[in-house]
Amino acid sequence: MFKPEVYKKRRSTLHKMMKTGIALFLGNSEAPMNYPANTYHFRQDSDFLYFFGLDLPGLAGIMDFETGKDWIYGNDVDIDDIIWMGPQPSVRDLAAKCGIPNTAPLSRLEETVRKAVSGKRKVHFLPPYRGENKMVLGSLLKENPCGMKTHASAELIKAVISMRSVKEPVEISEIEKAVDIAREMHITAMKMCKPGVSEQEIFGTIEGLALAKGGGTAFPVILSVNGQTLHNHAHGNILKKGKMMVTDAGAETNLRYSSDITRTTPVGGKFSQIQKDIYGIVLNANTGAIAKTGPGKSNREIHLMACRIIAAGLKDLGLMKGDVDEAVAKGAHALFMPHGIGHMMGLDVHDMEALGEDYIGYSNKVKRSDQFGLAFLRFALEYKPGHVFTIEPGIYFIPELITKWKSEGKFKEFINYSRTGKYMSVGGIRIEDDVLITEKGHRVLGKAIPKTIKEVEAVCA
Ligand code: GLY
Ligand code: MN
Repeated sequence: MFKPEVYKKRRSTLHKMMKTGIALFLGNSEAPMNYPANTYHFRQDSDFLYFFGLDLPGLAGIMDFETGKDWIYGNDVDIDDIIWMGPQPSVRDLAAKCGIPNTAPLSRLEETVRKAVSGKRKVHFLPPYRGENKMVLGSLLKENPCGMKTHASAELIKAVISMRSVKEPVEISEIEKAVDIAREMHITAMKMCKPGVSEQEIFGTIEGLALAKGGGTAFPVILSVNGQTLHNHAHGNILKKGKMMVTDAGAETNLRYSSDITRTTPVGGKFSQIQKDIYGIVLNANTGAIAKTGPGKSNREIHLMACRIIAAGLKDLGLMKGDVDEAVAKGAHALFMPHGIGHMMGLDVHDMEALGEDYIGYSNKVKRSDQFGLAFLRFALEYKPGHVFTIEPGIYFIPELITKWKSEGKFKEFINYSRTGKYMSVGGIRIEDDVLITEKGHRVLGKAIPKTIKEVEAVCA
């Protein structure tokens, strides 16, 4: 945990923004895998971690915006628990770690919430995303648990997003630690990327590294020679020469800050000419986009700029044709780059996504596009100092999508469908880094991770 002052300061900022009612923050509980006592790896709720820092199941926090008091609700362990779990800190000791003197057992939570409701005080809460917490909220507020998301407080959501979007120096240093763990994971994956090795072996090795060096992976590892499937979690292939392996993997630190890095490695460690052709374009889009990030620029502008670099590169190869600006404005490039340039990152790898993507990345003035490709951009607004983003352009040869568009004659004025066959074996290539927006521009977080063709080949050798 950070020092208690960090959490006290964050709560005090929220108190100043909110003024009335109470806020209820439910921490996560243990989630059973196949029977109640056999649980998944525990992951605390990120908003609970942000304001209270306590990384244990079975806790709730209350902030009373009128009295200015904060409370931790939780149950002290009894002797039966101690036999299995060993001695545990009391709820009072835990609350002191985040600077809160007031505690109560969980059985009192209902009384507190009911009292606020009967006093016509607003009970603010964030959108629940786990079944257990939907049930608890439904039961506390006497509402249908399935509808709890719609009762979440827009005022609280906006206040929390405004705070969590701008990273504090202690958070940036955690994210850099997470990137440095990812660096070890990626260098290991590159070194293992040889013919005859299984994807599973590489996946398991780098997942182990994430656990050995931090709190595990920030999201399920994407690692596949079929990188044209954007989120490929199947690891059943044996690597063969001529294929490329996409590794999209990040770690969490012990304090749960994340990293999200993608590298693409030719099996056997040497790029062929067609692999170089496509890799070079993605690399230009990655470095070109990063070079332009900074305050005053918007993520949508950077996204479109990266798409233009990709379309221009594909035109040089004869895969696209016509006017590049027009092709991108109409969305033709999305055949090859169907996703957004990146997302915010922090305590969540897609930071705060549980609070609602449009609250984070769009506004009354900036609305989400419905164009294929651009519609998947998670954040379209201007960058501000303290924001942390991923920049992750890619080029993909998705057989089903190419066949569909070709049969529809879609964008045939911009796409040379007859040339795609040559490049199908490339599959997909994505290159992703994590970038901090600074007062003057940006800084790529963590130690450099091999990225150029020369650097990747050198690591593999
Ligand atoms: N790393 C996976 C993603 O950004 O969606
Ligand atoms: Mn990402």
